[in-house]
Amino acid sequence: MSITKEQVISALSKVDDPDLHKDLVTLNMVKEVAVEGSNVKATIELTTPACPMKDKIEEDCITAIKNEIPSVENVEINMTASVPGHLNNQKDAILPGVKNTIAVASGKGGVGKSTVAVNLAVALAKLGAKVGLIDADIYGPSIPLMLGINEKPKVYQDTATQKMVPLENFGIKLMSIGFLIDDNQPVIWRGPMASGALKQFMSDVNWGELDYLIYDMPPGTGDIQLTLVQTIPLTGAVIVTTPQDVSLIDARKGLKMFERVNVPVFGIIENMSYFIAPDTGKRYDIFGHGGGENLAKELEVAFLGGIPIDPRIREGGDKGKPIVFDLPDSDNSKVISEISKNLAAQVSINNINSSQQKVEIDLGDN
Ligand SMILES: Nc1ncnc2c1ncn2[C@@H]1O[C@H](COP(=O)(O)OP(=O)(O)OP(=O)(O)O)[C@@H](O)[C@H]1O
Ligand SMILES: [Mg+2]
Repeated sequence: MSITKEQVISALSKVDDPDLHKDLVTLNMVKEVAVEGSNVKATIELTTPACPMKDKIEEDCITAIKNEIPSVENVEINMTASVPGHLNNQKDAILPGVKNTIAVASGKGGVGKSTVAVNLAVALAKLGAKVGLIDADIYGPSIPLMLGINEKPKVYQDTATQKMVPLENFGIKLMSIGFLIDDNQPVIWRGPMASGALKQFMSDVNWGELDYLIYDMPPGTGDIQLTLVQTIPLTGAVIVTTPQDVSLIDARKGLKMFERVNVPVFGIIENMSYFIAPDTGKRYDIFGHGGGENLAKELEVAFLGGIPIDPRIREGGDKGKPIVFDLPDSDNSKVISEISKNLAAQVSINNINSSQQKVEIDLGDN
């Protein structure tokens, strides 16, 4: 008896996406099935190239097909990805082509937001996603330096679209509030001015197609931050904290601010979590231990991971070469890459859940 495509699809309907809690057929992830004699090929389309479960899903597909159809000899799974967009009319109107927008925020300053935003962006791009980064820090735009852009670039306009063209470096597109202001002129930002600048970044910049557009936010939870958060049509936010109480208290405030404006929080990242002495390998919990994880539990959001203190992370920022790019095989680049995958998974989970809610509402209207 020859093997049929239906048998293969039936086998794949027994494989669940562990994050999305549904099977691959229901999730419409099975894109192609080909059978040649006893060889089976299938293409699985994930919701992000940064899927943390990619290898597991591939293995599960192979196991399911072999178990369900014993006559199969070879299975080849081609893993692809297409990031679904967050459904939001406001976003689609001003950022067409941008599928998801993510704010990287913190309550307290200096916790490593910009460092984390840059490295997450580069890590997602390295995994195959199309990524943009907006430096929205009106108090001290630092992203250009962290990405090795030492002078204010000439932002030029595309003659066809009359829009500004973002810079590109390390595989990500970039715009910074620093490009718009004179370095030597102190700027006192007020809410409307800051949100005006951000609006310009969204409506006057040709971002093209992006899976994730990340915003490095100014620290704090005051009026300006609230105005900015309301200006950007956000898919969700990430809160960066360090393990100390002072930082955690502010992180809690940050989370509440997003809640107030109905922006989902994808999770908490604990930065400067611990230090591993390079000579002895001994771990030191310099700022305490477990704070970020406990806060995530308390506030019922995901803990996306902890990034240790590593002089090479700071050096990467100072010399304009993010560690995930410069030292991709280092332990901490891998840590950051895992966090970027956890974030991408949360974005997918959020989008699947909100599109289901929409379907349910639509059905209810009938
Ligand atoms: N994990 C880390 N290990 C070592 N140094 C780090 C780490 N994370 C951040 N730093 C360093 O800490 C300093 C502050 O980081 P960063 O500028 O990213 O913080 P921030 O939260 O964006 O600050 P601000 O609130 O001023 O915008 C920088 O010098 C950076 O290189
Ligand atoms: Mg910063």
